[in-house]
Amino acid sequence: MTPPCHPRNLVLAALVLLGGASLLVLLGGASLLVLLGGASLTACKPSTPSPPPPEASDASASPLTPAPPPPAQPLQPPSAFSTITDPAARSIALFTEAGRVLTHPRCTNCHPADGVPRQGMHHQPHTPAVIGGPDGHGPPGLPCASCHQATNIALQGATLRSIPGDPHWALAPAAMAWLDRSLTQICEQLKDPQRNGGKTLTALHHHMAEDTLVGWAWAPGPDREPAPGTQRAFGELIAAWIETGAHCPSPAPERRDTTTP
Ligand code: HEC
Ligand code: HEC
Repeated sequence: MTPPCHPRNLVLAALVLLGGASLLVLLGGASLLVLLGGASLTACKPSTPSPPPPEASDASASPLTPAPPPPAQPLQPPSAFSTITDPAARSIALFTEAGRVLTHPRCTNCHPADGVPRQGMHHQPHTPAVIGGPDGHGPPGLPCASCHQATNIALQGATLRSIPGDPHWALAPAAMAWLDRSLTQICEQLKDPQRNGGKTLTALHHHMAEDTLVGWAWAPGPDREPAPGTQRAFGELIAAWIETGAHCPSPAPERRDTTTP
């Protein structure tokens, strides 16, 4: 008599798939399998159509992306602005499009002026209460890394779906504040070596286009809206902005119309 291995295997496979993203859960699933299955599982023969889902093995290949992200709002490519003949006006239009990322909560929550990180789409103060501390990594007793791991951690059965993660998780210094700032102010801050960590425009572009902490904004974990477009598309806009002279939008309260040639 062979044990009814298939239903159990399915349940366990489902468990593993649910746990999905996290290698930890995968390992947990595997040990659970060993625990529950015990010797009887070894008696299982894949006689009937064996359904080991290919996703189960694929899951370890991309443990950080539990579910396909919701379709992001696309960013317009630099070519969409090529009809603007005046380079300065084109530069401003490019920066304004990139500004949809720069002013998105996935960026601004970590770029406040008061040393307090924010959460969510409405910039609520961080719960539990934390501060960036002397170096942005939190006070000695409660570093960011005590909760924010190297990768997003998916949570099961909790109201909170995931904890954001990156190896360099930290709060940006107040000099780099973007929260509640206009696009003009953000633009001027970005270009100011006194306030941008001594970066050239090339270094700035590299940081925006390549940095993994910046890239987190497009893979922020379940239940968190990603920044518009992709990091690549954002990098292309920033590159084109720099090529056209890195002009900043007018400081006037009303944004100047830059969409007409
Ligand atoms: C005690 C645990 C803990 C500590 C310490 C902690 N965080 Fe968090 N943080 C969390 C949790 C949990 C969330 C997810 C909350 C949510 O999404 O509702 C979070 C979310 C965030 C977010 C929100 C991301 C977004 O766009 O919604 C930011 C930004 C953040 N933390 C920054 C920091 C920084 C910077 C530090 C260190 C100075 C830090 N956190 C320290 C637990 C912690
Ligand atoms: C988890 C917190 C966090 C998030 C989220 C975050 N940043 Fe930052 N950012 C930092 C920290 C810390 C620094 C300073 C250290 C450094 O230069 O790497 C910084 C610095 C920068 C700088 C360089 C200095 C300057 O002039 O501002 C740029 C550019 C930047 N971030 C872009 C972004 C963009 C774009 C996003 C969203 C797509 C983003 N950041 C999201 C923490 C964050």
